[in-house]
Amino acid sequence: MEAVRRVRKPRRDSYGCHAYNVVEFKGLAQTVQMRYVAAVKIVVGLITVAAPGYGSAQQPHMEGASSRPPEVSFSSPGILQNLSKAPHTVEVNITAAPARMEMQRGVMTDAFAYNGHIPGPTLELQEGDKVIIHFTNKLPEATTVHWHGLHIPADADGSPFYPIPPGGKHDYVFTIRRGTAGTYWYHPHPDMRSGYQVGKGLYGGIIIRAADDPLPKSITEKLIVLSDNRFLADGSVDFPDIRSPKGIVDEENGREGDVLFVNGEVLPTIKIRRGEVQRWRIVNAAASRVYRLALQGHTFLHVGSDGGLFETPVEEKEVVLANSERVELLVRGSGDSGSVSLLETLPYDRYAPQTRPIEWKVPRPLLRLEYTSDPPMTPVTIPAKLRYIPPLDTTKVKVTHVISLSQGLINGKTMDMKRVDVRAPLAATEIWEIENLVGMDHPFHLHGFQFQVLDRNGVPEPYRRWKDTVNVPKHETVRFVVRYDDFPGLWMFHCHILDHEDHGMMGVLLVK
Ligand code: C2O
Ligand code: CU
Repeated sequence: MEAVRRVRKPRRDSYGCHAYNVVEFKGLAQTVQMRYVAAVKIVVGLITVAAPGYGSAQQPHMEGASSRPPEVSFSSPGILQNLSKAPHTVEVNITAAPARMEMQRGVMTDAFAYNGHIPGPTLELQEGDKVIIHFTNKLPEATTVHWHGLHIPADADGSPFYPIPPGGKHDYVFTIRRGTAGTYWYHPHPDMRSGYQVGKGLYGGIIIRAADDPLPKSITEKLIVLSDNRFLADGSVDFPDIRSPKGIVDEENGREGDVLFVNGEVLPTIKIRRGEVQRWRIVNAAASRVYRLALQGHTFLHVGSDGGLFETPVEEKEVVLANSERVELLVRGSGDSGSVSLLETLPYDRYAPQTRPIEWKVPRPLLRLEYTSDPPMTPVTIPAKLRYIPPLDTTKVKVTHVISLSQGLINGKTMDMKRVDVRAPLAATEIWEIENLVGMDHPFHLHGFQFQVLDRNGVPEPYRRWKDTVNVPKHETVRFVVRYDDFPGLWMFHCHILDHEDHGMMGVLLVK
């Protein structure tokens, strides 16, 4: 533990952007090795034959390629099988285990997978369900399963406070609160190893449905889990030694990959009929990539975010999706039969200038939307009012917590699981003011409680929505209001760039 904590010593900030100091890393060599033991096993001996440096993509970009690779059809991940016969009860088995499998088509990779799949199977629930998850850890290292965004007891949250040792089992038991229908996801959250385990393939979607969902049942639904990854020439996932030049860039940017996955596939095709409306639930499961989503020739009807549906749909040309955020978008089939539109991620400058990837300005295709030649459908009517979101009462607020983010640090400190950073009384309504002091974005996540953003740089949020993660762009300040209405205990808050989180950009909230 001593050794582990030493790694988290504050790293120097210079002029808002962090310049990495190699001498600092030298002193950390021993602990770095301890922490990266699994990664090092894979990477050792391969560093010299590593893939080209970041920015020179290993895979040809589609737009530059003369012939398109064979078409891959889109499918949502499979659904976890409910073993329970009891009403309003979902009982499932999840096992995390090493798997040698095709993360990229035709290339074998030593991965980690939930029930043998990347992404893991979807946990599909109804509001009010009692959920029992029998989890088995067959990984060679400790892990947890964090149910990102769910409002559940602290001891079921899968935070680093509750590690499950290799070979261990744990039952996660919780109940789904009414009013929380939405799109969520699950991923490992062990102390300092989240980036590694997610990068090896551990992530999956969660869908919570409401009996009174206002959107027409006839709408086709797709779960779209976005992720990226980077591989070495031998097919292994590229986790560079953090003292290497590439590793230093990863530490700063977060490990970003040049292969962009949609449900584990590259550039799959969704079919749509002219006039058809589809509901896309999109999860950003990437370690650090922020997506700026746009669909050629279409606008989105943005209907929901992290904590479920909005009050009213919002028409949007593009949507920025930071790490761990989710959106629900209605895509309306306004194109011509036989035409193809690409869902792309457009350039988004979240980076510090000195480590900004060379190709950051290149739009990247994520999936193809292909119109069938079937006769057009009559579009369904989308209700103008989706639901009521009760505003949290800011007149009740007695305390504003000021949280400042700098490179690798929160309020000038790295995470210490033995320290409580923020204390809050159960049932209190409080404001958090998150200020980003540095020249790169940090997506801020609070466990356990959905919040409502009040303003960004003093500009009031245009509409109410439930969020559990909010991107805090360079040198900006975001304020949100939250009510700890239930579930006392220790909760995490952190930057959701996994490399930043792992290396200490995290704090502890005690609600009691
Ligand atoms: Cu999605 Cu603390 O994490
Ligand atoms: Cu960060």
